[in-house]
Amino acid sequence: MATCNPGDEVIIPAPYWVSYPDMVLLAGGTPVTVECGIETQFKLTPEQLEAAITPKTKWFIFNSPSNPTGAGYTRAELKALTDVLMRHPHVWVMTDDMYEHLVFDDFEFCTPAEVEPGLYDRTLTCNGVSKAYAMTGWRIGYAAGPVALIKAMGTIQSQSTSNPCSVSQYAALEALSGPQDFLADWRMVFQRRRDLVVGMLNEAKGIRCPKPEGAFYVYPDIAGCIGKATPAGTLISNDEVFATALLEETGVAVVFGAAFGLSPNFRISYATSDEVLREACSRIQRFCATLV
Ligand SMILES: Cc1ncc(COP(=O)(O)O)c(C=O)c1O
Repeated sequence: MATCNPGDEVIIPAPYWVSYPDMVLLAGGTPVTVECGIETQFKLTPEQLEAAITPKTKWFIFNSPSNPTGAGYTRAELKALTDVLMRHPHVWVMTDDMYEHLVFDDFEFCTPAEVEPGLYDRTLTCNGVSKAYAMTGWRIGYAAGPVALIKAMGTIQSQSTSNPCSVSQYAALEALSGPQDFLADWRMVFQRRRDLVVGMLNEAKGIRCPKPEGAFYVYPDIAGCIGKATPAGTLISNDEVFATALLEETGVAVVFGAAFGLSPNFRISYATSDEVLREACSRIQRFCATLV
């Protein structure tokens, strides 16, 4: 049975969604982050996973497509990871499939227990209605996994947050069981915005921006800006200074990479209008051009 005991390790590929390490700490475990840089398109390699597993490893947290990078693992890439996990039967998998429906081009979403049914009995598959159905405020997430684990989760939830209200549950039921055809249109809109943002950021001096497979984020690398200074004399020593100077001088707010465990980068959510995105990216281009 998978519970977290003191000393239990949880492998989290970085950059990660900010809540994962704190969730692990709250459960009494020890987060073990593994940096996945731009050279692998922010994806964990099987060699990195193998090296991170110890006898104390309890969980591996997987998120594809990812917040903050939008990176999605192909079936072959995921199979290479599940092959490693099959060699370590003490490791459980928590997969966060939140961006399942937000994938672009020909990318095919897949999830660990589907790619490797041998992992079924030690996989917790999580999802929610916040992203694909734009229902963030309704606060509905859901999970599927082995009965004993789900029962234990229910016990904790019933004594902490109790339960989501019935109004939200019915709204989520309608979203999940109703017509899904609007998703294809949404995907096209997000794909257009992704291409706009990636194209414009790659024209900014000192920025490299990989093209993500899904979600609605980009995670550009700003190594080419580090060590330079703004016209006002601020030395861009790290991504936090970059984000602060960008905000103060141009009014554009981005989240700096250190918050997600991988620097020097920043994250943009492109879940906003083309017009706003075009203006923001133009300002970023002008800001980068002034750095010396
Ligand atoms: C990867 C990932 N998982 C889970 C969540 C949680 O979403 P919510 O609490 O809105 O259901 C988010 C939200 O940003 C996310 O990006």
